[in-house]
Amino acid sequence: MFEFIGLLVVVVWLLKVAHTVPGVCSRRRSLPKTLGDKLVITGATDGIGRAYADLAAKNGIPILVLVGRNQEKLDAVKREVETKTTTVRTVQADFDSADLTKTAGFEELKRELSTAESLINCAGVSYPGAMYYEEVGVPFLDTLIRVNLMSTMIAAHLAYKGMRARGKGLLVFMGSASSLVAEPLLVGYAGTKGAIDGLGRSLQAECVSTEFGIQIQVPFMVTTKMSKIRKPSLLVPSADAYARAGLRAACHASNRTVNDSMRATICPYWSHQVILNVCQRLPRYLWEQFRLSEQKVLRKKYMAKVTKATTTA
Ligand SMILES: NC(=O)c1ccc[n+]([C@@H]2O[C@H](COP(=O)([O-])OP(=O)(O)OC[C@H]3O[C@@H](n4cnc5c(N)ncnc54)[C@H](OP(=O)(O)O)[C@@H]3O)[C@@H](O)[C@H]2O)c1
Repeated sequence: MFEFIGLLVVVVWLLKVAHTVPGVCSRRRSLPKTLGDKLVITGATDGIGRAYADLAAKNGIPILVLVGRNQEKLDAVKREVETKTTTVRTVQADFDSADLTKTAGFEELKRELSTAESLINCAGVSYPGAMYYEEVGVPFLDTLIRVNLMSTMIAAHLAYKGMRARGKGLLVFMGSASSLVAEPLLVGYAGTKGAIDGLGRSLQAECVSTEFGIQIQVPFMVTTKMSKIRKPSLLVPSADAYARAGLRAACHASNRTVNDSMRATICPYWSHQVILNVCQRLPRYLWEQFRLSEQKVLRKKYMAKVTKATTTA
């Protein structure tokens, strides 16, 4: 037992040092080399996507294309991140559409993605609160599939063709640790994230021996409007801290010949990797019981909020 705890402390320390020393990866691979000349980010108007946009612009990516559903938010992010060395363009596209190809922004999205040298897919939605699977309406399951899964599949499809023709590119998908470890009361969300993991890993297998980076990033909690957590902590990084770690991880995937030893699924933030290691070694039922009891508390709070809102309406 003491040996295990000692080992855990050493592992935590080593991971922390390796992932927090600035430029550990960028010394070997500069950002422009990682992302190429043109990066497209979906879900760029908030949270992790917005943080990635900020970081890419600060590092002088020549062309940055922000994709989001709300033009006002897109314009605000554009104003904030645009620099002398970075040209920022925006594409308005609502991914919660029955047929994305028939929506107003689709042709523009297609045009921008056809010449993208890298794509970071951050658009996503989760449950408004913890719920049992039977409590989730079918229309909302549809939304989860459209925004989390279909948008990722379509954006990757549109970028993939050009990247394959040029023989290089980088695709980063935002999965979630909920697809690797069970996530009760967020079942539909975890299901879409599991599919993204399958999509990315299979694409990587298709690209073996090419210089094509494909990465599925699987974070635990990050302080964004999705997680509803405001204060960063050791286990819950801010979106900026996450994006810094995420970009370092993306360095490892880009511009390398894809081979058998490369892992497509990555947990970039050091303390998330530690949680993942620990819960993958625990007896499964322990983690599942722990999450179930946590989620039941959250459900209770959420249900109380819903009841209050319906009685005051
Ligand atoms: N935060 C976490 O704890 C966490 C953990 C694991 C995985 N992730 C994943 O990380 C990604 C980013 O999440 P986040 O935490 O940054 O969430 P967030 O702050 O809520 O941002 C989500 C982004 O997706 C956009 N979006 C939502 N619905 C859309 C639609 N119908 N069409 C187009 N864009 C839409 C949002 O646009 P608006 O600005 O208009 O709302 C926003 O830009 C997601 O895929 C999420 O599943 C997050």
